[in-house]
Order: sequence, then structure tokens, then C-alpha cells
Amino acid sequence: MYKSIFRKLLFIFPPETVHKLVVSLIKFFFKIPGARNAFRRIFSNRNEACLEREVIGLKFSNPVGLAAGFDKNAEFFNEFSSFGFSFIEIGTVTPEPQPGNSRPRLFRLLPDNALVNRMGLNNKGVNYVKSRLQHKENQGLIIGGNIGKNSSTHNSNAVSDYIACFNELYSFVDYVAVNLSCPNVHNLSDLQNPDSVKLIIESLVNERAKFPSKKPILLKVSPDLSPEQLNQTIDAAEEAGVDGYIATNTTTGRNNLKTKKSELEKIGRGGLSGKPLRDVSTEVIRFINQKLDGKKPIIGVGGIFTPMDALEKLEAGASLVQVYTGFIYEGPFIVKRINKLLINKMFNTYI
Ligand SMILES: Cc1cc2nc3c(=O)[nH]c(=O)nc-3n(C[C@H](O)[C@H](O)[C@H](O)COP(=O)(O)O)c2cc1C
Repeated sequence: MYKSIFRKLLFIFPPETVHKLVVSLIKFFFKIPGARNAFRRIFSNRNEACLEREVIGLKFSNPVGLAAGFDKNAEFFNEFSSFGFSFIEIGTVTPEPQPGNSRPRLFRLLPDNALVNRMGLNNKGVNYVKSRLQHKENQGLIIGGNIGKNSSTHNSNAVSDYIACFNELYSFVDYVAVNLSCPNVHNLSDLQNPDSVKLIIESLVNERAKFPSKKPILLKVSPDLSPEQLNQTIDAAEEAGVDGYIATNTTTGRNNLKTKKSELEKIGRGGLSGKPLRDVSTEVIRFINQKLDGKKPIIGVGGIFTPMDALEKLEAGASLVQVYTGFIYEGPFIVKRINKLLINKMFNTYI
């Protein structure tokens, strides 16, 4: 029903408008007494307790989360947790508020089941986000805080932006994701060079030592690094003491797309997400997992539309998965469908 009715209606409007509209509608519905519980019941599975897993020292009620960029300002994680997500990664958050790139900056590639975005890390800044996180209602929900640098901060000073966000958010999140891989902020992904990775991760590990509790620090990587670059990035992150990886961010690649070349040229630059990213990101997961002998947790993200897509990532070495574009194209039952397959697999009852 989502694809045949709701999606057709929603996709009439520009994607950023739809995002705002849907979020406002959901927030409105949740004000109706009983709505939250009804949503929870509709979107959860029987036997879900068997999906519980401990990863990065945290207890996840199931392996499916909402990827960074959907709730940039921590404004709707309470409501969206009712769609079955066990964790939601807020952000990317920067020290100061910033408007991001000019519109239009989000595009659908319908023939490819994909999106291109060049949002440019638009967000309301770390102080605002911190104030929002104080309103967490579902105590079982895991919150990841994805941090970045302001566009106006030169790469040579980037570490101070990461430290500032880290210190402000640390007490309000369960893990920290370090975004060095966004393709939509000038030169940001250059920070994946080994020296910068080592400096930034090591600085955050040192900052963490000042807090009484030890929360995991994860590095979010790009799918566009060559195997040699990825190798060096991981070596640097390991040396610095990273706790795990998120693979992957969006790609600047445009290979093997069905969308017309003229349309792609009209859209212009930006990070591609969705189905065309699926296998690329799965290969990055496999690469990291093999390199580290499965010793570090990986959150797999990129092009998950079906339960089998999620299973492929878990089998390639991910301990958890996240969705973004698949949530938009497939609708809110995507989490329930993935979890259902995993439950059936556990009980060996494929249907
Ligand atoms: C509109 C949009 C905004 C995004 N913003 C962020 C962001 O702020 N920080 C980040 O780390 N990733 C961001 N991402 C990347 C997603 O978190 C995810 O890594 C990527 O889209 C691949 O997953 P998918 O194919 O399921 O969408 C964004 C993606 C989209 C489509």
C-alpha cells in the first residue's frame, strides 16, 4: 500500500518538502493519546526478543537503525523509534549552526531507486542538538551522535570542531560516529588521510579519558576510497584506538545508473545513496571485516531495501545495519520486514 498509494502521492512533491511534511505529520499523530503504543505494536515483531544483541558494549533490541542525516537535529528520534529502529544516529552535528548548500540539494533518481544529495551538513548546531537530546523518552533506544566540522573551518583546524562536538554531546549519546566521509562539504573527505584520521580519533580518545564512562567511538568511511587508501585509513584509525566502523557514507560515483546522463548532469554533484550503493558498501564491509579478522564491530549501511540486502551486509561482517534511502522508497515497514527475516532465519522457517 505504501508504494502503490502513499509513495506515489509523496513523490509528486520535491524530496526536501516531503521530508518536512512527513515528519510534521508524524509528530502531529503522536500527540494523539495512544498513538505511540499503537505504532509500536504495528511495527514490532513477535519473538523480537531473540534479535537482541550486544555490540560495542551496548544492548540493541534488534540490529536495525536509522542512518545519520535523517534526524540531523535530534528533533524526531522519539517518534521514529516507534517504527521499530533499535538505534537512531542523529546529526551530522557541527559546533555552530549552518544552513548547508543552496536548494535544490536533494534529488530522486527514480529509475535507480536512489537519491543524490548535497545537503552540506545543514544543522542547528551542537548546543541546540544537545538541548533536544535531553527529551529522550524511550530509554531502550540507542542514540548515536554523528559529529562533523563546520564548512567554514579549514581542514587544518578540523580537529578542534570534532573535539568541541564530542565534548558537548558525549553525555547525551550512547556512541559517537566521526564523519570524515561526507562528499558534500568541500574537502571534508580528504580528512580520511591517515595523518588526519590518527590526529582526530586519537584526540577524541584522549578527550574521552576525561569522562567517567567509556563510550564507543566509530569512524564512518566513504565507499570511494581505493583499497590501498582504505587500508591506510583503517590502520591509522586502529592505531588511534577506534572502537568500530560505519560503512558507508554516500558515493560520488555515477556508474551503471539507469537515469539518463542528461538528467544526471542537470542534477550535478552530490552523494549518491540507495540501491546503486548496495554492493559497493557491502564490499567495504567485507574488506574491513577481513582485514581486522572480524575483531571490530561494523555498522553496515548503503542501499538496504530488502531483508536480503540487510542479511548480505550481516553476512559480510556487519553486526548492525542502518537504512536511509530504503526507508523512503520502501516505507515504514522496512524494519519489521528485515527483522522478520532474521527471526525466521533463526528458527529456520523461511516463508
Ligand atoms: C539526504 C541525506 C542526508 C544525509 N546526511 C548525512 C549526514 O548528515 N551525515 C552522515 O554521516 N551521513 C549522511 N547521509 C548518509 C547516510 O547516513 C547513509 O550513509 C547513506 O545514505 C547510505 O545509506 P542508504 O543507501 O540507506 O541511504 C545522508 C544521506 C542522505 C540521503
